[in-house]
Amino acid sequence: MALGEPGLNHGGFHRRSANHGKFMEKFGRRDTSVVSKNNSSCHVQIDSIALFPDILEAIDRLRLPTVLQEAVTVVQFGSSNGQISVDNVVAILQRLKEKFGRTIGQEPEYQVFFQDLPTIDFNALIKLLNASILPNQDVHPVDCYAAAVAGSMYDRLFPVSTLHFGCAMFDLNCLSRIPESVSDRHSPAYNGGQTGLHRSSVATIKAYSAQAKEDLCNFLAARADEMADYGILCLNFRCRDSDSSTSYSTPHEVIGDCVWDDFIDKGIISADMRDSFNPLHYWRSVREITEVVADFSSDFEVHKEVVQQVHIPAGSASVASTPSPSLSSTAMLRAHFGKEVTNLYLQRYEQVLLEGIGNQTLSYHQSTTWMIVVLIRKPRG
Ligand SMILES: C[S@@+](CC[C@H](N)C(=O)[O-])C[C@H]1O[C@@H](n2cnc3c(N)ncnc32)[C@H](O)[C@@H]1O
Repeated sequence: MALGEPGLNHGGFHRRSANHGKFMEKFGRRDTSVVSKNNSSCHVQIDSIALFPDILEAIDRLRLPTVLQEAVTVVQFGSSNGQISVDNVVAILQRLKEKFGRTIGQEPEYQVFFQDLPTIDFNALIKLLNASILPNQDVHPVDCYAAAVAGSMYDRLFPVSTLHFGCAMFDLNCLSRIPESVSDRHSPAYNGGQTGLHRSSVATIKAYSAQAKEDLCNFLAARADEMADYGILCLNFRCRDSDSSTSYSTPHEVIGDCVWDDFIDKGIISADMRDSFNPLHYWRSVREITEVVADFSSDFEVHKEVVQQVHIPAGSASVASTPSPSLSSTAMLRAHFGKEVTNLYLQRYEQVLLEGIGNQTLSYHQSTTWMIVVLIRKPRG
């Protein structure tokens, strides 16, 4: 379902030149340290510094729609309702305008879709968009038509062959559902005894892996229909370092389950309550991603597959949110354990982390693996 938003029908975005300059300086790096301030979200920093160059470079490959009157359509899947999402789209539009300004005299029109689950607060997103279009003499507006699209990115959302540029950043680690077997006490994949996947059994990881494969297949099948010929799709994933023989997560993240164990020992929560929580996120291995992408070789040409290490500060609030570098994990914890217990957990997590850094059993940075995949829709016969 696409929701046209009256207030956005002809929005003009404005430039955020300071951040833009920062990530432009970092082009070409493949081993990146991320500096984070308290309360900032890691994915904001990674987006800007480490991953965005590949996405901007991909934009330069985009061809104009064959029908000149057609608008250039840009979609951000799993856009959330945060400022970063608006800023990312501004940067994408600016690059598109630079590109087409160089290559043709007349600018195309732009249609931008902010896509996410129906459960997010789209009103908050719309307020942000409206704030971004306020007049400001210091900056040049980027005109576009914007709309919010509510639905699951694992389903079809757009008409056939209508999207020119799409990106899913920090979204494809979110699964469409928690595999049923991991909540079934009689299944070998039962994930009792933990809240994450950091110390789970091979059977549990296999159940998540199967769900992640199904989801990525559904995502790519839907996009194969929706992308216009030569349309570009940019995806990023947090990954495991390699396959199941290596540990699923960093030593910093394992702290989380130790804190929950302690809470059970102290009677703060019951073991049942802990055991019935399972994450909705999964870090695929690079091989798991490339294999699914290869299955779509008749639809997409792989323009780029880049794997890089990003060193995330251990002390950032988002690391404490357990399975994902995003605050959405904290929201899941709150929904299950309640606000009070979750806040206690976050405090305790940070305390254990700082102690570990202080006595040098943990490093300040945790090294995480990320993969960027840039696909080009092959022309249809
Ligand atoms: C970590 S946030 C990333 C937000 C944004 N892409 C960014 O880079 O700032 C993940 C987003 O994916 C969204 N999401 C999760 N599952 C989804 C699905 N099945 N379809 C669409 N969006 C989804 C969540 O609601 C959330 O807004």
